[in-house]
Amino acid sequence: MERITTVAALQELVSKARGEGKKIGLVPTMGALHVGHISLVERCVAENDITVVSVFVNPTQFNDKRDLELYPRTPEADCAMLEKAGCTYVFTPSVEEVYPEPDTRVFQLGAVAEVMEGRYRPGHFNGVAQIVSKLFAMVAPHRAYFGEKDFQQIAVIRAMAAQLNFDIEIIACPIVREADGLALSSRNTRLTAEQRRNAPRIAETLFKSVTFAHDHTVEQTIQFVVDAINAVPEMRVEYYEIVDGLSLQPIKEWSDSNYIVGCITVYNGEVRLIDNIAYRRP
Ligand code: PAJ
Repeated sequence: MERITTVAALQELVSKARGEGKKIGLVPTMGALHVGHISLVERCVAENDITVVSVFVNPTQFNDKRDLELYPRTPEADCAMLEKAGCTYVFTPSVEEVYPEPDTRVFQLGAVAEVMEGRYRPGHFNGVAQIVSKLFAMVAPHRAYFGEKDFQQIAVIRAMAAQLNFDIEIIACPIVREADGLALSSRNTRLTAEQRRNAPRIAETLFKSVTFAHDHTVEQTIQFVVDAINAVPEMRVEYYEIVDGLSLQPIKEWSDSNYIVGCITVYNGEVRLIDNIAYRRP
């Protein structure tokens, strides 16, 4: 594995590989890597000749300055995990390297970017579109891998890629969970011992709600989830929405769509956790 810090070096290496007819896969990350990230890297390694993993805490997608400051940074451990997973190039640029000039682009990505995270984290998806579009342009991969943990993010990236005509296959990978159900997240390390003990209640409630949904309405199912999680000490649901898996717009009836996903955001103390569950897949 080779560690690259400049855009010029990255572009030279990937264009050489492309010229040799190699398939290039990209896994964008913000580091503090865990088994969830590594599942994307392993899939990328299995499906491509060259795997590029970017490790870059992108400042433009943090609408909360404190969240940016508190974001865990573990570069040495990240590189060790990536090497073991078979990564070819790890790209760890500085902020100045990625943004020599401030990125003033404003994306209009339509309804998928306006609901849920779009509403509660203004500017967040614009920052994600900025960095991912730059990475797509720098690497020009054949395939790029994203986790369904950030379900809405994938829809936003698909919209961005369509708008800018990127010829890149975007691959959605399943959520990796701890044995107790908690979705792996770099933010989990910020939970206190008690918050960590309670955190699996989020996934547990989502799983239970799939059975509950069989004989209840969409509205009743939303209420079931919100009430169960709000009853846990220190937890507060920011939103729970049951949406069409492609448009991300809320559904009213179970018959409204053949692809139905419930997306949740919960404050566990001051740590903001997200998760989601499929009620129906196409
Ligand atoms: P980050 O939070 O580091 O996540 C990098 C990728 O790993 C994302 O595609 C995310 O969905 C995936 N991932 C995280 N936890 C996962 C889990 N438990 N199971 C499966 N996949 C998981 O998402 C970002 O970074 C940034 O927004 C980024 C796309 C890199 C742009 O800066």
